[in-house]
Amino acid sequence: MSLPMTRPEPGLPAKVTIYEVGARDGLQNEQTAVPTDVKAEFVRRLLAAGLPIVEATSFVHPSWVPQLADAADLMAGLVDDLGDTARDLPVLVPNDRGLDRAFALGLRHVAVFASATETFANKNLNRGLESQFEMFEPVVARALDSGVDVRGYVSMCFGDPWEGAVEPEQVVAVGKRLLDLGCHQLSLGDTIGVGTAGHVKDLVAAFGAAGVGPERLALHFHDTYGQALANVHAGLQAGVTTYDASAGGLGGCPYAKSATGNLATEDLVWFLTGLGIEHGVDLSAVAATSVWMAERLGRPSPSAVVRALA
Ligand code: HMG
Ligand code: MG
Repeated sequence: MSLPMTRPEPGLPAKVTIYEVGARDGLQNEQTAVPTDVKAEFVRRLLAAGLPIVEATSFVHPSWVPQLADAADLMAGLVDDLGDTARDLPVLVPNDRGLDRAFALGLRHVAVFASATETFANKNLNRGLESQFEMFEPVVARALDSGVDVRGYVSMCFGDPWEGAVEPEQVVAVGKRLLDLGCHQLSLGDTIGVGTAGHVKDLVAAFGAAGVGPERLALHFHDTYGQALANVHAGLQAGVTTYDASAGGLGGCPYAKSATGNLATEDLVWFLTGLGIEHGVDLSAVAATSVWMAERLGRPSPSAVVRALA
C-alpha cells in the first residue's frame, strides 16, 4: 500500500500545517557536514513535495553548530535559484548577529529559540533562563520593525536530561514571555522525546488557562521513545493544528544529551491521511526525498513509513 485507508475521527481539525524542520533540526545533528549543494537539493525537493513551510538552516555561531556554518552560502544559493520563495524559508537566529546575517539576505521569517530550563539555556545559548530574553528582545523588535515575523521555540517543554520533569507552568511562563516580545507562534519542543499524551493535553490546557489558545501553538516532537504520533493525536484533540516534523526522521540537538530524531514527516503524513486530515503533502515524493538523503548520509532512514514504502 502506498497510502493508508482513510477513516476520519470526529472532533479533530480538518486541516493541519506541517512545518518541515529536516534541513535544520535534521542536519544540525549529523556527524559529518552535508555539502551545501546537497542541502539545497534537499530543500528544493521538500518544497516540491508540497511541504508548505521548510525551515532551511540556522544563523548561529558557526563553531557551536559547524554542520550549519554554510547558512549564508546555502541561503544565497537558494535565493539565486528560487528568488523570493527562498526568502520565505524560515531560519533560526539566536541573537542580533544572527539577525544581521538573515537581514543581509532579505529573509522574511526567523525563529528565536528559548529554553524552559536554566541548565539547557546555559548549554544551548551560553546564558541563563532570564538573560536569554535579553538576547531575544532586540532581535524580535528589530525583526518586527522590518516586517520580518518571528516564531518562538521553547525547548525542554516536558522533561530535561539534567533537571528532570518540567512543569507546564514553567513552560507557559517562558512561552508567554516570547509571545509578549512579539512572536506570532510558539513551537513547544519535546527536545528529548519524553512527553506522553496526557502531558501534551495538560500543557496545551495550561496555555489555554493563561489565555494562549491552540491556534498560537505548534508542537515539536522528537521520537526518542516512540511517543510522537500518540502525542500528535493528543495535540489534535486539544485543537493544535501546526506540527513540526523532519523528513525521514532526521534530527536531534547537539547540546541536548539523548536528543534523537524528530517525528518523521512521512509518519505524520501517513497518520494524518488515515484520519482524513488535509495536509497538502505528497507522501511518495517526501519518502523518495528521504531515501535519496539516506543514501547521501550513508544510513537508512529511521522512519517506519519510509522503510515500509521502500
Ligand atoms: P556566545 O559565545 O555566548 O556568543 O554564543 P557571544 O554573543 O559572546 O559572541 C561571541 C562571538 O561569536 C562574537 O565574535 C560574535 O560576533 C560571534 P567576536 O566578536 O568574538 O569575533 N557570534 C556569531 N557569529 C555568527 N553568527 C552568530 C553569532 N553570534 C555570536 N549568530 C550563541 C551564544 C547564542 C551565539 C551560541 O550559544 C549559539 O550559537 N548557540 C546555538 C546552539 C544551537 O544552534 N542549538 C541547536 C538549535 S536549538 C534546537 O535544536 C531545539 C529546537 O529544535 C526545539 C527542540 O527540539 O526543543 C529548536
Ligand atoms: Mg528539535
